[in-house]
Amino acid sequence: SPAAAATCLASHKKIVVCTDLGPALSLLAGVETVVWPHAATQECPREWLLQNVVGASGLVVCFKDMVDKEVVDAAGPELEAVTTISVGYEHIDLPLLAARNIQLGYTPDVLTDAVADSTVMLALMASRRTNLTSALVTTNQWPSFQWTPFAFTSPQLSRVPFGHSPTVGFLGFGRIAQAVLRRLSLGFGVADAIYASRPGSPPREARDSAILQSLAPNLVRLRPVPLPELARDSDFLFILAPGGPETHHIVDTAFFARMKRTAVLVNNGRGSVVSSHALAAALREDRLWGAGLDVVDEEPHVGPDHPLLLPGVREKCVVVPHLGSATVETRAEMARMTARNVLLGVEGQRMETAVDL
Ligand code: DGY
Repeated sequence: SPAAAATCLASHKKIVVCTDLGPALSLLAGVETVVWPHAATQECPREWLLQNVVGASGLVVCFKDMVDKEVVDAAGPELEAVTTISVGYEHIDLPLLAARNIQLGYTPDVLTDAVADSTVMLALMASRRTNLTSALVTTNQWPSFQWTPFAFTSPQLSRVPFGHSPTVGFLGFGRIAQAVLRRLSLGFGVADAIYASRPGSPPREARDSAILQSLAPNLVRLRPVPLPELARDSDFLFILAPGGPETHHIVDTAFFARMKRTAVLVNNGRGSVVSSHALAAALREDRLWGAGLDVVDEEPHVGPDHPLLLPGVREKCVVVPHLGSATVETRAEMARMTARNVLLGVEGQRMETAVDL
């Protein structure tokens, strides 16, 4: 089989695996693998990576493992393939890999639906302020709770025939954002969408009209807007942009000052895009309705003293620990792609899903 042939060709190479590939690790049987022994429960320490990567042809990492000059130098000239079990790759020094002719594999597409699902979940949880309302139950306040018609009413995500239809905004309009829009348009009847992409990126009229057609007759408007307009007009704002210096703290105090008081912000991209301090202030001062966060700038250092978890803020904010793609099916496929990519890479073949360096 092609897999057996690949394994045979790669058998004299060493692959260092810093993360948990689950059953997909068996795809690397026949190749010398050095696997971080606690991969199922712990992130790989930098020292372990630096010690073990020496002489490796292939390296498998997750988004927590920085692949920089120190790592690439430690590996030495044999290194020809790096693969990350993530769609994001800002933890990897792309120019360095390009200069050294090292392929980079990643996991696009396969996680789009899982992340889009969790993005919609966060939008609903944040708008309905489920942190606040479920705490009522878990702290035994339901028995004394007075149900009145307007208690805990919130902005509505779906279009209502008798009233307001929300404008959904996207900061970053790639695959995941488009999948969120599909859900909101076809499932929730959302009829107005705006987005802001990377400054200087070319207009995408053809793509946008294809999206509109695929959503017809539900979506009536989709248009690119400058950032200030995105802030001003979004009722639900979805941050689905990559991290890195270009997007660092784009969403800051000035951005929040433009947003509607009734708006909901969801970040399922990268924590670094949103200033946590500015977000906490906006929530505390009721200048923003709610926030749903899968990612936070300071993650994983988000404990009870974090500004987003302080009383007066946490009731309006739902935070989950970077789990957007964490479904059984998606993670299994991400692991399979990652294993397959590294195997192809050390064999000198084009990976299934490689970043264009
Ligand atoms: C990604 O894929 O980039 C996620 O953030 C981690 O799975």
